[in-house]
Amino acid sequence: MDVGADHIQDTEESVSGTANNPATGAATGAAMARERHNPMSRSTSGVTTIAVDGPAASGKSTIARAVAERLNLLYLDTGAMYRAVTWLALRGGIDPADEAAVSALAARVTFDFPDRGAATHVNPPIIVDGVDATDGVRDPAVDAVVSVVAAYRGVRAALVREQQKIARARGVVMVGRDIGTVVLPDAPLKIYLVADAAARARRRYDERIARGEGADYDEIYGAMVRRDHLDSARAHSPLRPAPDAVELDTTGLTIPEVVDRVLALARERAVGG
Ligand code: DC
Repeated sequence: MDVGADHIQDTEESVSGTANNPATGAATGAAMARERHNPMSRSTSGVTTIAVDGPAASGKSTIARAVAERLNLLYLDTGAMYRAVTWLALRGGIDPADEAAVSALAARVTFDFPDRGAATHVNPPIIVDGVDATDGVRDPAVDAVVSVVAAYRGVRAALVREQQKIARARGVVMVGRDIGTVVLPDAPLKIYLVADAAARARRRYDERIARGEGADYDEIYGAMVRRDHLDSARAHSPLRPAPDAVELDTTGLTIPEVVDRVLALARERAVGG
């Protein structure tokens, strides 16, 4: 990741969570259990939990990854977990519209976020039920239905449990839609990133063009507004800022500006060391 880039890019290519520092090991159950008793795994700022929420392409992943790296915290993108369940359902012939079947699947899957050694990953690996879903979670077929799957109460309950387990085990910068409100309501620092829809659609458009893919700005803009609506209007854990979240508008800001702001807030909130 290039935090020196002069504009913010977001999650299309940063869809999973992993230990972001080779020194800290993989976020497996065993590694997490080890780290629970290891004070060195705590952030150098003293803040051990940072919740980052916001709509698609608001800059969450880029910002969170840079902050996690600077503070020696785990970076975990929970969107990748919803995507992984969706991917596994599609792969297993489960109809994403079948709420009971998808919820049962979410309740039994296992996740692993192996550290493959690089300090940062463009696509941090995510293993679901022993299968590498790192590329699969970015499949357009997943994009098309993940909002539906993420709206199921049973799916959310299962994944929130898993996310809370990870946060209990070690310091983490956790990214999603409901992290400050539901998953980590006691996080000492909650960031809610926003950017206007046109700026976010432009980021997506630029990412696709940069990857040599075709892109239609109007289509991207329309899909983004539709997904924002689905994420914000759903009954269970809709996208919204926690009352104590710090809202940062990234529309006209560079990545380093936003990262510095979050790091300053982390320093302000630090208790202990
Ligand atoms: O951030 P993303 O685009 O990878 O998220 C994929 C989907 O999952 C999107 O519809 C929002 C949803 N999501 C969610 O409901 N709660 C989270 N904590 C993270 C993502």
